[in-house]
Amino acid sequence: MICSSLTSIAVIALAGLAQGAPTSNLRSWEEAYAKAEQVVDQMSLEQKVGLTTGIGWEKTLCVGNVHGTEDPYFPSLCLQDGPLGTRFASNNTAGVSGINAAATFDRDLMYRRAEIIGNESRGKGVHIQLGPSVDLIRAPHGGRGWEAFGEDPYLQGVGGYEFVKGVQSQNVIATAKHYILNNQEINRTTSNSVVDERTLREIYVWPYARMVEAGLGSVMCSYNLYEDIYACENDYLLNTVLKEELSFKGFVMSDWGATHSTAPSVNAGLDMTMPGDIIMGDGLSWFGPNLTKAVEDGDVSEERVTDMAMRIAAAHFKVGQDKDFPETSLVSFDRKSEPEVIVTSDEHIKFVRDIGAASVVLLANDGILPVSSDDLQKIAIVGSDAAAPSEHGGLNEVECTDMACNDGTYVMGWGSGSVDFPYIISPTEGITNRAGDSVEVVHTYDDWDTEAAAELASDADIAFVFAKTEAGEEYLMVDGNNDRKNLTLWNNGDNLIQAVADANENTVVVIHSPGPILMPWIDHENIKAVVWPGLPGQETGNSLADVLFGDVNPSGRLPYTIAKKEEDYGAHISTEYNIEYSEKLNIGYRHFDANDIEPLFAFGYGLSYSTFDYGKLKVNTKRGKRDTLATATVFVRNTGDVDGAEVAQAYISFPESAGEPPKVLRGFERVYLKAGQQRKVTFEFTETDLSIYDEESSCWVVPEGEYTVSIGASSRDIRESATFDL
Ligand code: NOJ
Repeated sequence: MICSSLTSIAVIALAGLAQGAPTSNLRSWEEAYAKAEQVVDQMSLEQKVGLTTGIGWEKTLCVGNVHGTEDPYFPSLCLQDGPLGTRFASNNTAGVSGINAAATFDRDLMYRRAEIIGNESRGKGVHIQLGPSVDLIRAPHGGRGWEAFGEDPYLQGVGGYEFVKGVQSQNVIATAKHYILNNQEINRTTSNSVVDERTLREIYVWPYARMVEAGLGSVMCSYNLYEDIYACENDYLLNTVLKEELSFKGFVMSDWGATHSTAPSVNAGLDMTMPGDIIMGDGLSWFGPNLTKAVEDGDVSEERVTDMAMRIAAAHFKVGQDKDFPETSLVSFDRKSEPEVIVTSDEHIKFVRDIGAASVVLLANDGILPVSSDDLQKIAIVGSDAAAPSEHGGLNEVECTDMACNDGTYVMGWGSGSVDFPYIISPTEGITNRAGDSVEVVHTYDDWDTEAAAELASDADIAFVFAKTEAGEEYLMVDGNNDRKNLTLWNNGDNLIQAVADANENTVVVIHSPGPILMPWIDHENIKAVVWPGLPGQETGNSLADVLFGDVNPSGRLPYTIAKKEEDYGAHISTEYNIEYSEKLNIGYRHFDANDIEPLFAFGYGLSYSTFDYGKLKVNTKRGKRDTLATATVFVRNTGDVDGAEVAQAYISFPESAGEPPKVLRGFERVYLKAGQQRKVTFEFTETDLSIYDEESSCWVVPEGEYTVSIGASSRDIRESATFDL
């Protein structure tokens, strides 16, 4: 049987997604390899090994640097976190997290966000950006889900694709991580992820395939094991799946300290060891002299080392770093000597505010929002989550390592995926500024004194009560959490909300959280709206006020499911050595669909200040351009009296024989419509979109039979559906 590889299908399928400003100096892989060959051909074995070997933890300007060479010249490449901006940097922008980019359901915003991240990295002389993360939210408690794009592989694929395109347009290599099956923090370096071949491909490899199509330069292999073999020395994952099946042409680096051997890792496909050390800070290395010796001993071929160096050099030339690339100006481990290089700008800051507003998900609203200052005399703000944190990283604030000591509003998770904040506009500041002088704004930030909170709220026209939960990376722990221990609010949040709602009949709840929480107060009659701004970065208060006061009509959509109770989720954090991915293809909303469980708020859900109608769905299966197998068109009309964007979502149900979940996301389009305006939205379903991975033949196949396309405003709000046969 001739089977199409996932990549060969998809190269064509997603070519149409390329967008954004024309980029300079970019090369095709062929051109990049030709350039790389000219340099690598002149290198000695030691020089080639140097390119693959990190110089050591905290020994260089960046979180990782490999050795450069003088003759022939090749720079010491700087590797720096992370998925939302440049870590350990000043004069930067602290933008929204990946999970907010996902909540916009807007490709253009995802691309523009990445372009800015790439632009600031380049400005600091970062060659290799350590993002995007595409770790799916499997268990909702997962500590690092907020760095990536949610619970759906298709959404992760789009988020990853746009990130790679955007960052690499700025001559910076993007790094897709953490490859693979790294979906929780607990035991991340010692656990073995157990998953079947089909689930591996359709859920977890899928985003990587999309990023390879985008020209991805590097991949970071993860800490965990698969089939009892570390991901960074796993021949099947690195050579067979990534390099052969997906035809990945870039290089694979280890996560920090995730290399465990010399020849086995190199022969399995690892191309670079980071940050170089065997154990972080020990000054030894599995590569370096050990790799040279492995070649001399015949355990690794020199050809393989040449391939490693070629992959690294080719990625560098592909994104055009050989012309006018800035000197590295970071000093990651001695921040006081960092030279002043300003990479932020008014434009970047405005974008953060805009995407912050575009990613606010309005979960409930009985009409109380948007508010107008004309109707208000007094606003009460309750909860420490509305306050500016007393510390938020930065040059002189070493106490607050990587955001793991946040005592105010929650704006990003903690760990290597965080960046320093130049400033934070708190929710109180944003609301107060927007409300203007005619409105009195009072606040209390004491989460534990519910009586004081109730009293403050009792005579206000409206009470905004803020609460949060946080999560982050394994090497830091906050009150026993990196993966969240449970899904309840922190700092007495539920009691605080209850007390305020009891005291004020116009209560609006605002939650900042890395993922789902439980909402025992959701049916309280005085809670008139629930607002979900995600992790919005430095402009948080302004973005929020834009939505609360109606300057921006909300259009954010949930990139994960919020369940009624914790047991309803299909996956949980495991403390076993073997982490069984027993939900298989039924990750996220698919589990709720398959088991007929009613979520509290469904994947893809979010309200607007307007209303939208869908109609006249038509599907045709004429083979379109490239490999489109079916096209659906639907008309979306803004039936309210406020202009705004609607996110039309397309879900596919495969023929029953395919054994797929009831429906899977295969398209979305955020359309801006003036009040009364109607537009036709087109979804093209490619061969990739309509394929499943057939374990028996190890092929991606398009199952024959009847398909259903369901179009709607969320995974549980389907407005139109139609069938087609293939
Ligand atoms: C470990 C993290 O898992 C990874 O995401 C990060 O890029 C490296 N540390 C470097 O900080």
